[in-house]
Amino acid sequence: MIDLRSDTVTRPTAAMRAVMAAAEVGDDVFGEDPTVNSLEQRVATLFGHETGLFCPSGTMANQIAVNIHTRPGDEIICDEGTHIYRYEGGGTMATSGCSVKFVPSDRGRFTANSVKAAINDPDAQWLARTRLVELENTCNRGGGAVWDLAEVDRIRAVCNTHGLAMHMDGARIFNALSVSKESPDQWGQRFETVSICLSKGLGAPVGSVLVGSNVFMTAARRVRKRLGGGMRQVGILAAACHYALDHHVDRLVEDHARAAQIGSTLAELPYVAEVIPVETNIVIFTLAGDLQAAPFLGQLKTAGVLAAAFGPNMVRMVLHLDVNDTDVEKTIDALQAYR
Ligand SMILES: Cc1ncc(COP(=O)(O)O)c(C=O)c1O
Repeated sequence: MIDLRSDTVTRPTAAMRAVMAAAEVGDDVFGEDPTVNSLEQRVATLFGHETGLFCPSGTMANQIAVNIHTRPGDEIICDEGTHIYRYEGGGTMATSGCSVKFVPSDRGRFTANSVKAAINDPDAQWLARTRLVELENTCNRGGGAVWDLAEVDRIRAVCNTHGLAMHMDGARIFNALSVSKESPDQWGQRFETVSICLSKGLGAPVGSVLVGSNVFMTAARRVRKRLGGGMRQVGILAAACHYALDHHVDRLVEDHARAAQIGSTLAELPYVAEVIPVETNIVIFTLAGDLQAAPFLGQLKTAGVLAAAFGPNMVRMVLHLDVNDTDVEKTIDALQAYR
């Protein structure tokens, strides 16, 4: 099976497993796992922050950040397709008691002007207190769209004026950076907190790192524990994340080229109504007429290709470490053979 459902499906390579098996470990709740400690420091330094916190998932890293930035009753400005709202089990509302205000976006990317317009009057007692702006880079539901740093600067200026914090969900930040050619710290320094995922395109089996200030991360450590995310000898997992950073960042361009190849094939097919412009490793397309995603995906599966439904007639394919050129050729054959 060629599995294009997500870049989370990758399996650790033999070399990664060897590094995991050899990892030096300790009890991380006591702060004694040297491999976790070095990973947290490595990622924090890369993104220009003081310290990091190793989390079992991107969801937990995001939800910890939301929880500390806000108080119950606060409001978060974000795009309606954002992961913290749509795909984290209602955590933003349930765990932190926050409402969200959506701003119009171009495939997940919004403007400083729309942020400004969405801020509630802090003197209006009947309105929720606007507290946080959250954005995703790349934007998952936006088809892997990459943000423009200049717009983020304008949003930062608005947030500074209004005393708002900014959190970036950087689940696929390395995909974005490989396109924009910017450095991690250029992005990191614009946000109070960033969550960075090592278990998507980078191919580690588990792990996200939340980065921010020492003060923030002391609070974050407590919330992680409260959520059940205090893990013990997890240097085994952190070692995989180190390996991913060492070996799997530069190769992301290959995933992007393969995604572009699939995207341009789809654009020519009569049963495809629209392909969201492919910028990174995600391909999202809409089926034409009354063709539904479920039967389409069923038939694709029989041809050996797995993809994900992204709506009743929308499909997502994600390229990753475990998909090579031959797999892409087979996928293209299966797409072209579909009747
Ligand atoms: C944009 C984005 N943020 C966060 C996450 C959450 O990551 P996890 O599955 O590790 O909780 C995902 C997962 O696919 C994602 O796509």
